[in-house]
Amino acid sequence: MSIQQENIFQQIISHAKEYGFVFPSSEIYDGLSAVYDYGPYGVELKKNIRDYWWKSMTQMHENIVGIDAAIFMHPTTWKASGHVDNFSDPMIDNKDSKKRYRVDHLIEAKAEELNNAGKNEEANHLLNKMEELLAAENFTELKALIDEYKISCSISGTSNWTDIRQFNLMFKTEFGAVASDNPDDNIVYLRPETAQGIFVNFLNVQKTARMKIPFGIAQTGKAFRNEIVARQFIFRMREFEQMEMQFFVRPGTEGEWYKFWKEERLKWHLSLGISPEKYRYHDHVKLAHYAKEACDIEFNFPIGFKEVEGIHSRSDFDLTQHQLYSKKKQQYFDNDIDPTTGKPYGNYVPYVVETSIGLDRMFLLVLSNAFEEEVITKEDGTTDSRTVLHIPTKIAPVKLAILPLLKKDGLPEIAKQLLDECKPYFKCFYEEKDAIGKRYRRQDAIGTPFCVTIDHQTKEDNTVTIRYRDSMKQERIALSSIKQLILNEL
Ligand code: GAP
Repeated sequence: MSIQQENIFQQIISHAKEYGFVFPSSEIYDGLSAVYDYGPYGVELKKNIRDYWWKSMTQMHENIVGIDAAIFMHPTTWKASGHVDNFSDPMIDNKDSKKRYRVDHLIEAKAEELNNAGKNEEANHLLNKMEELLAAENFTELKALIDEYKISCSISGTSNWTDIRQFNLMFKTEFGAVASDNPDDNIVYLRPETAQGIFVNFLNVQKTARMKIPFGIAQTGKAFRNEIVARQFIFRMREFEQMEMQFFVRPGTEGEWYKFWKEERLKWHLSLGISPEKYRYHDHVKLAHYAKEACDIEFNFPIGFKEVEGIHSRSDFDLTQHQLYSKKKQQYFDNDIDPTTGKPYGNYVPYVVETSIGLDRMFLLVLSNAFEEEVITKEDGTTDSRTVLHIPTKIAPVKLAILPLLKKDGLPEIAKQLLDECKPYFKCFYEEKDAIGKRYRRQDAIGTPFCVTIDHQTKEDNTVTIRYRDSMKQERIALSSIKQLILNEL
């Protein structure tokens, strides 16, 4: 990351705190690493992103329904899913600083350093070699690669490394108060993904909602991972929220559905008006233990292009595993006619294409894309500046700020009438205090797309000044048209 990128990232983090979007968790006790709380504007933005996703999945697709599964699940779930045995990252410790690194992150940081020094070919070679060795789980050669490139610890500055080891990312806790000779009996995990809550409910949902394949089940909720490298604000957290959808399909059709969802999900991102240049796909070389085909949708964050969403063709892996471990059939009877045999397709374990996006990461994406330190040239040629969040109106925390110019002369009464008219439909903000320019700037900083000022002329002709956040243009319009104008934008 360049110094300039680092500065922008730090500005966004400070802005998020100063304006009530994101606070470090339990800050009065110096915080808890990689855990964050959402403030008054953050919680609105987060909810709006979640609702936008939820609506696009469950309302705009007739064949997708939702669930809300518990965070705790039977521990065998995680044995079946492969998380107990495989949900781990190769880690390496520096013997001098005692700092632990994820091997891929350590090598990627070195590649970035090489890129910044103009040694792009060398960087590409390093990354390709790393991907090849990770895919083969060849940790001896991977360690040799770290030695070859003289990769050192940023704290101790030495290359005195331990061997590479796997480290499981699931949090464990104890369940109930029943004493047992075997301490493992009471162990439950905090779910590391929401997907398994969908898989174990596959038949419950299919039967009760009378779903026919192909169909999807959507869910949003918390997930927990004991991330080792956790120093990128809400990009990588230990407690975070996912928005996942599992799409159940007939075996043999998963390739076309994978392609469909890969395109459909990028369209969703672009529907927020974010520039396509800021996005790219990254097809996986090293596939997760369940994946048949997988790609990431990456966004150009201030910290570089990084994954925001994963699309995974998971085959019948999860349902077959749950069938095996639970000894309960996870099959679907497909009575559509197979044209090659002239008979129904019959019983099978469906294949699954998954779309999985981190809500907090999407939040960071929206903030990063919206944040601007704008220099304004005034009519007299002098300059001024403002910090503005160009958050898409559909998901902005506050849609309309209602600002009486003065605290007297009946202006607050008119303003409150407008507030009462609008607040059942969208989130409004009311403020009487401070000069109007200052109030506009505060709304810019939280991303409010519209401000309306009520002044003495309002009393004469029932018009108000509407001020648009992005252009800062102001115009006089009828007071009675405000509500509809904003509803049209939503
Ligand atoms: N069910 C599949 C699954 O969980 P994943 O690629 O591990 O796949 C999906 O995670 C998404 O969840 C990621 O693209 C990312 O947006 C988000 N995510 C994963 N780990 C995260 C973390 N530690 N903090 C914040 N978001 C995370």
